Amino acid sequence: AGRESINTEIVTLTRHLNEEQTKHREATGDFTLLCHALQFSFKSIAYYIRRASLINLSGLAGSSNTTGDEQKKLDVIGNDVFLAAMRSSGRVRVLVSEEEEEVVVFDEYPHARYAVACDPIDGSSNLDAGVSVGTIFGIYRLPEGAKGTKEDLLLPATELVAAGFTMYGASTQLVLTMKDGPVNGFTMDNGLGEFILTHPNMQMPKKRGIYSCNEGNSKYWEEPVKEWCESLKSAEKPYSSRYIGSMVADAYRTLLYGGIFAYPADKKSPKGKLRILYECGPMAMVFENAGGQAVDSKMRRMMTVVPEHIHDRSGIFLGSYEEVQKVIDVHKKHG
Ligand code: AHG
Ligand code: MN
Ligand code: MN
Ligand code: MN
Repeated sequence: AGRESINTEIVTLTRHLNEEQTKHREATGDFTLLCHALQFSFKSIAYYIRRASLINLSGLAGSSNTTGDEQKKLDVIGNDVFLAAMRSSGRVRVLVSEEEEEVVVFDEYPHARYAVACDPIDGSSNLDAGVSVGTIFGIYRLPEGAKGTKEDLLLPATELVAAGFTMYGASTQLVLTMKDGPVNGFTMDNGLGEFILTHPNMQMPKKRGIYSCNEGNSKYWEEPVKEWCESLKSAEKPYSSRYIGSMVADAYRTLLYGGIFAYPADKKSPKGKLRILYECGPMAMVFENAGGQAVDSKMRRMMTVVPEHIHDRSGIFLGSYEEVQKVIDVHKKHG
């Protein structure tokens, strides 16, 4: 009798990638190899994060990055691990990272066909408090003959071939989606050392009474944003507030439970805080593919926003379709 209760059809990330590749006869396997390198970087970053306090890796590195953030030791280590994995894959030509001022060009691989945008450690201000952090990534396919310059990355998220994030939380969760494809969630099985497909084809609830934003900024918000937030709190059934302060953690909860995450551009940060290439864009693709939507502070579809510079920021509203629609409708009313 026990047989049917044991699932022997375990789909690892490796098997999932092989099955995906098989669907595309013309595939060279380059993307699969790139994802294996990605997978290794997540396993490696998770390993450092979970031991940081034991090996003197917590706290500040004593430096700041080009976006003005004070770098944690783990920001720097995570960046080093990620870059080493992408470089050694031999499939990446050019890369942008939150922790690198300029694009990183891998000249030793002139024929590599992918460009990668990454936030090696997202939510790093929470690290020393043991709160969930993550890695966010977006993958672009280079046009034939590309030389690997920053222009190859100054693209809208509609051009991404794949995007996702890994959250280093109570368990290590990887969320991965391909262009116009489903969103698949994988959970790290530390015994096997494998990501296991646990959330196939994630579809968000169309609405949910949970809002996630830093209301400590509300005095700087534009009127429509203030009105929107007040409308949630004065609703017949007032919304719940959930804000972790790590975008990956707030996004993962919103993806699973529904609701809305917002980091609006405001009078203090007129361009917003979150970065387009390695936070807003990849997240927007995940949420759209899961049936949600994402807009910037001008109510433009987030996936169409093109950064001028690799570290450009944007306001963002990200979440269940109907919850983001509420923000859009309030802005329409304000004209
Ligand atoms: P990072 O740690 O990669 O610099 O990103 C931090 C971001 C994002 O994770 C989070 O949503 C946001 O900063 C929180 O900002 P506030 O502390 O201003 O709320
Ligand atoms: Mn940072
Ligand atoms: Mn971040
Ligand atoms: Mn970061």
